[in-house]
Amino acid sequence: MKWTAAKLKAFKGEKKITMVTAYDALTASLVDDVGVPAILVGDSLGMTVLGYETTLPVSMDEMLHHTSAVSRGVQNALVIADMPFMSYQPSLAMGLENAGRFLKEAHADAVKVEGGAMRAELIDSLVKNGIPVLGHIGLTPQSVKEMGYKVQGKTSEQARKLMDDAMAVEQAGAFAIVLECVPPELGEMISSALSIPTIGIGAGVGCDGQVLVFTDLLGISNKPVPKFVKKYAHLNGIIAEALTAYKNEVEGGTFPDDEHTY
Ligand code: KIV
Repeated sequence: MKWTAAKLKAFKGEKKITMVTAYDALTASLVDDVGVPAILVGDSLGMTVLGYETTLPVSMDEMLHHTSAVSRGVQNALVIADMPFMSYQPSLAMGLENAGRFLKEAHADAVKVEGGAMRAELIDSLVKNGIPVLGHIGLTPQSVKEMGYKVQGKTSEQARKLMDDAMAVEQAGAFAIVLECVPPELGEMISSALSIPTIGIGAGVGCDGQVLVFTDLLGISNKPVPKFVKKYAHLNGIIAEALTAYKNEVEGGTFPDDEHTY
């Protein structure tokens, strides 16, 4: 059953929503095969796969390339493309054109944009033009130079502002919203106040769903991860062991053996 943004929205209150990032057809098919309903082609691509320090250098061409690959690997999950830094900030027209490219050229089902009330006009315009939108507030990595990688919404004034932002994103027509790095009480308050699902990442168990980065949850990278990451596996050790065994056998002349030779 192919997931749509409308189905995901209607899932609120039925069952918690799982979302995972993926960046290519292989990893997307692994996520899709276990029945995860939503895959985010996050601009975290920049750090996880492309070797950048932040998400800021990620380009439209890179996102289109990886989103197309994810779409090819998926049968059922909703594919959400993250709009990269400066692909929507300069103007509504640019945001609309670039969001449209994700659906037309990369076969995404929806796009994600960072920002609250300030993005309401853009979200409204995308939705009215047939492009489902996932919002994203709290810690928004494209604003790292301005806000750093810090928990957001710790003071009552900041919490009120995030609640207003969440309401504005919902009213503008987003089908769901990512809440990143906010105190769990605020995550729960926003989740109860909204009629669209909240997808938490470092926002506590009170959210309607959770998202994690593929390479983080599988422990593929050996770089430090934020506190909110739970590693469900430690694949880096397994990969290093296999690669070392292969290298040793090649160097020792024991691979290929008879079993692996025609
Ligand atoms: O880019 C990304 O992967 C994200 C999620 C972590 C929410 O924005």
